[in-house]
Amino acid sequence: MQINNNINIDFDSIPIEEFWNTGDVKENKMHRIHSYPAKFPAFITNKAIDYAENYGLKVDWVGDMFCGCGTTAFEATRNGKNFWGSDINPVATLIAKTKSQVYKDSTLNKYYDIILNNYRKKNVSKNDLLETNERIKYWFKEEQIINLLKLKYSIYQSIPQKSKYLNFFLTAFSNILKPTSMWLTKSIKPQLDPNKKPANVLTNFSRQFDIMRLANQENDNNKSQVRIENINFLNKKIKKPFADLIVTSPPYVTSYEYADLHQLSTLWLDFTNDYKTLREGSIGSLYHNTDFIKDAKQLNKTGEDIVFRLYNKDKRKARSAAKYFVDMQNTIVKSYNMLNNNGIALFVIGNTEYKSVKINNAKHLVECMINTGFTDIEITKRKISNKILTPYRDKNGKFTTDKSSRKVYAEEFIVIGKKE
Ligand SMILES: C[S@@+](CC[C@H](N)C(=O)[O-])C[C@H]1O[C@@H](n2cnc3c(N)ncnc32)[C@H](O)[C@@H]1O
Repeated sequence: MQINNNINIDFDSIPIEEFWNTGDVKENKMHRIHSYPAKFPAFITNKAIDYAENYGLKVDWVGDMFCGCGTTAFEATRNGKNFWGSDINPVATLIAKTKSQVYKDSTLNKYYDIILNNYRKKNVSKNDLLETNERIKYWFKEEQIINLLKLKYSIYQSIPQKSKYLNFFLTAFSNILKPTSMWLTKSIKPQLDPNKKPANVLTNFSRQFDIMRLANQENDNNKSQVRIENINFLNKKIKKPFADLIVTSPPYVTSYEYADLHQLSTLWLDFTNDYKTLREGSIGSLYHNTDFIKDAKQLNKTGEDIVFRLYNKDKRKARSAAKYFVDMQNTIVKSYNMLNNNGIALFVIGNTEYKSVKINNAKHLVECMINTGFTDIEITKRKISNKILTPYRDKNGKFTTDKSSRKVYAEEFIVIGKKE
């Protein structure tokens, strides 16, 4: 549906378009090597490339400023395109980098054997245990800590620091942290499960290695250039445009605390001593220290309207939403600046609801795009079928697995705009 600069349309009545609902081919195994919240379906990137090329655009560089675990990165390079991406979370960029490389099977096996050899020889001292971060001790039993320490040392000892193979094995290490910890399985909130029997470190690592090795075998050798930066996109200096096509799904307002959800990996991989520091700059986080009045003054009309209605229900939520909408406004300006002339941007975004206040993220996004200069804005809807996390919310708007609760993310919007 073409918008024609009119944002006063009924977003609920936009029809679902089959084209964006399902993929034509099975997803590559590479997309399942590491769990990631709010990962989007791989086929969106393929369809976006087809859409742009049918429109007459020559797609050389694809960009995703919220690259997460590298879904767009993997699919863009698989289609022979160059890729630039960023994510503020170091766990995300580690996985995204791992996914956008191709590995020699024999070298993977060689390193795996060396790691196991070193693992068997490695001893962990009482001191090593004492020095372990308190937060790690909170999540893990001593046996798992000892074995994970041995495994981590062995990985670093076995593979040269600058080798792409190091990222491969660190990603494998990262994905076995939840099953080997006391983290409540599949929980979207950091929560201990006192009854859990944590998985065996070596058995899990070996299984994870097999999954990743098989995924890599499916992957064709490609010659694309890939640049993935672990940065806050809002701080990126864009000197000149460099992307032909943007395919991205921005964070939702106060839905996921990515820093908290990835804390096991960030702590074990020494990205930080205090995972909470990674909330800073993370768009959509509830924990920002904000200047509400300043944010409120910058809001566009849709943002202002939503924040005002939220303010009457929950002041803290209203402050976070104001910060989120300002961040998104700046994101859209930067997205426009990074696009080459005739470039196309495609955003996947969903609407939510909080204490009966409808949070029309899609409408806000469209208004940002119009204000920034995007033209020919089109909007369609798709059904959400394979999000890892629960789409259900309780009456306070909190996630729940209770299927009788309100379902919030059953549909999402695809918003496409062009730069002339
Ligand atoms: C909806 S997820 C993207 C998921 C991705 N499409 C995938 O398939 O994995 C949004 C991402 O935005 C990232 N993010 C949040 N604030 C950011 C910022 N200021 N700069 C860069 N990335 C940010 C989060 O860490 C998260 O990975």
